[in-house]
Amino acid sequence: MTTCCILGLGYIGLPTAAVLARAGHRVIGVDVNAQVVATVNEGCIHIVEPDLDQAVAAAVASRALSAQLTPATADVFLIAVPTPFRSGADGIPQPNIDYVLAAARAIAPVLRPGNLVLLESTSPVGTTEQVAQEIEEASGFNSEQLYIAYCPERVLPGRILQELISNDRVIGGLTPEAAKAGQAFYASFCQGELLATTARTAELVKLTENSFRDVNIAFANELSLVCDHLGINVRELIRLANHHPRVNVLQPGCGVGGHCIAVDPWFIAAAAPHCTPLIQAARHVNDGKSRWVIEQVQARAAALEDQLGRPARIGCLGLAFKPDVDDLRESPALHITTELLVAGLNVLACEPNLTDHPTIKLHALEQVLAEADLLVFLVAHSPFKGLDLSGRQVFDLCGVTEQDGSV
Ligand SMILES: NC(=O)c1ccc[n+]([C@@H]2O[C@H](COP(=O)([O-])OP(=O)(O)OC[C@H]3O[C@@H](n4cnc5c(N)ncnc54)[C@H](O)[C@@H]3O)[C@@H](O)[C@H]2O)c1
Repeated sequence: MTTCCILGLGYIGLPTAAVLARAGHRVIGVDVNAQVVATVNEGCIHIVEPDLDQAVAAAVASRALSAQLTPATADVFLIAVPTPFRSGADGIPQPNIDYVLAAARAIAPVLRPGNLVLLESTSPVGTTEQVAQEIEEASGFNSEQLYIAYCPERVLPGRILQELISNDRVIGGLTPEAAKAGQAFYASFCQGELLATTARTAELVKLTENSFRDVNIAFANELSLVCDHLGINVRELIRLANHHPRVNVLQPGCGVGGHCIAVDPWFIAAAAPHCTPLIQAARHVNDGKSRWVIEQVQARAAALEDQLGRPARIGCLGLAFKPDVDDLRESPALHITTELLVAGLNVLACEPNLTDHPTIKLHALEQVLAEADLLVFLVAHSPFKGLDLSGRQVFDLCGVTEQDGSV
């Protein structure tokens, strides 16, 4: 049995803690948010993720998992804290690794030689080296005395507990020995391949994966505008094009959101602004799609108002950044709904995965369906599938009304 100290009990850290506990490790979960610590110690969870409630309840009940505000001595330290971005010069947002460096400083007093330190937060190239530097300054231990490695997380929200075990992992050591130590640790609960490399390569691998998706979705979003202009159904177009054995266009939407895909490409662009016109353009195309949606809804609302002789009621269906989650981070649907409200439209917002929102009044799906003059489907949540929309004005940005295979 290994004692693991996990810093950050969010969408990544908490499921990882539960999986490690189930695999027989003793897990100390650490979070700077006292509410999160209290919730976990009650055996409860503060995020939406299938089966996580049972896994955490079982881990806490068996005393394999407990949470606290500060790190304690352990064999393995795993950092899964946020890595947001902040605005930067020349319109290129800059990565903010303050939380990662704070976590590195926090573990320094309890580190012992031979400990394995794993960074899982999505990070710009060079962050693991900075973590090592921070640790050495605070503890005196260098990367020869510790095993320090970067191991990015690539789980899909909604399937995190399965994918934590089944996905292949890239493990980038600051030294070859650190990569080996990381492989041995992940082998205790992962069934996927464990691929060793350097920390810098592993950092760029993670950013590459999400930039690949962002660029591909930008292509789909650009096609959706072309199709709108030419009167062609973009989803039928993509479905047919994808019958080519070497073509795989992703789906368009109302933009791109989430903490990863809408953020990580900027981590590459910030490090190499002159080499990344395509990556930067993709970000602009995807953000531009959300602006286009706002303009389209405003135009349709104005036309409806002329027709009805009163302000149109606009149903905005979905606020999360992707289907069947409650996660609002960088959500284009949330941004679009907020902008429509700010513009003074009569918006009826519906997010079935949330009970309330601090600034947006949420309505039940039935009420929106009964009262809205225009239904704007922003996110393909399951409750939006199979609705009878005959005779309704629909603006479907996510294909949820087409899922009967009719296109
Ligand atoms: N959510 C995903 O699907 C996903 C997928 C792959 C990678 N990632 C990456 O994983 C990292 C974590 O993401 P997340 O979604 O779990 O974030 P999150 O916001 O859900 O959770 C992070 C937690 O860390 C805590 N925290 C902040 N600073 C801390 C510190 N110094 N010590 C201890 N706890 C601290 C916060 O209070 C919060 O509870 C990010 O870099 C993210 O990009 C996330």
